[in-house]
Amino acid sequence: MKIGFIGAGKVGTSFGKFLINKGFNVVGYSSRGKTNLENTVKFTNTKKFSSVDLINECDLIFLTVNDDSIKSVLDESIMSFEKLVNKTFIHMSGAHSSRLLMNAYEKGAKVYSLHPLQSVSSIENAVKDFSNSVFSIETINEEIDENIQKILDILKSYFKIDSDKKAIYHMAASVFSNYLNTLMDFGLELTSSLDIDKKFAFEAMKPLIYSSLKNIENNGVENSLTGPLSRGDVNTIKTHLKTYEENNKNFEEFYRFMGLRTMDYIEKNGILDETKIDELRNTLEEK
Ligand SMILES: NC(=O)c1ccc[n+]([C@@H]2O[C@H](COP(=O)([O-])OP(=O)(O)OC[C@H]3O[C@@H](n4cnc5c(N)ncnc54)[C@H](OP(=O)(O)O)[C@@H]3O)[C@@H](O)[C@H]2O)c1
Repeated sequence: MKIGFIGAGKVGTSFGKFLINKGFNVVGYSSRGKTNLENTVKFTNTKKFSSVDLINECDLIFLTVNDDSIKSVLDESIMSFEKLVNKTFIHMSGAHSSRLLMNAYEKGAKVYSLHPLQSVSSIENAVKDFSNSVFSIETINEEIDENIQKILDILKSYFKIDSDKKAIYHMAASVFSNYLNTLMDFGLELTSSLDIDKKFAFEAMKPLIYSSLKNIENNGVENSLTGPLSRGDVNTIKTHLKTYEENNKNFEEFYRFMGLRTMDYIEKNGILDETKIDELRNTLEEK
């Protein structure tokens, strides 16, 4: 099975190298700019192709261009092909389904989206990290074919996603990954208002952050909440809210929103009685 990549960026280069390290026959790349393409073929010890030649040469073609270009790059690359039977096209976007590759599917190709639940910023690190990544696979074909199964078999773990559910899947990944930044930013904004250096503050909070994650890992998310809301300490919450009146108003809405969302969690998991929940909700809502 010959494999090629259209798009010599971070994911295309690192996943190609990962496949080569696992014994797959990655023959080469085509891309837009010269520099990344040159670096990639050198790094992977493969060849440069035009996208049309790459499709002719390969059985499996990964489209690892930025999400907004996947459809147009595919359409342009397959324009001169009347039929694409025995060809497989795969993109690696988390947000989109394989329907983005519909024009190849209609010419007889098999189409997939294969997404690593991993952030890729360094190519060298990603090549190693893919060994521990969990991937999702999605397809509009009837079933997963033999060639794709060979790739899935070398992954540590993977799961299947319905084509209609990819947006929800990607939203979940964004919450776990990107919104964690938002939470950290919120916390660091508060420590900065105490004139504590951000780097130091993060180091200081790290054991707290990691122990919260460990608790979730060990006991499940529904059994791991600690802190004033879980204890029903209304006065502590009132003290928190008072600091917003006295200091800056930044993030007040977010604090109240997260508090109310936490009350939903507390109610759902039967952590406090109804009277306490009402009292805390009223405290978080009243201005
Ligand atoms: N990075 C991540 O954390 C991550 C994680 C999971 C999945 N993904 C997915 O992986 C895919 C690639 O992302 P990436 O982070 O690797 O992006 P990237 O580093 O920006 O690479 C995109 C590559 O596509 C090439 N390209 C752009 N337009 C093109 C065109 N019209 N024709 C040919 N090549 C073109 C670019 O060429 P130039 O070299 O000329 O710019 C670049 O080499 C995306 O679908 C993304 O959603 C990314």
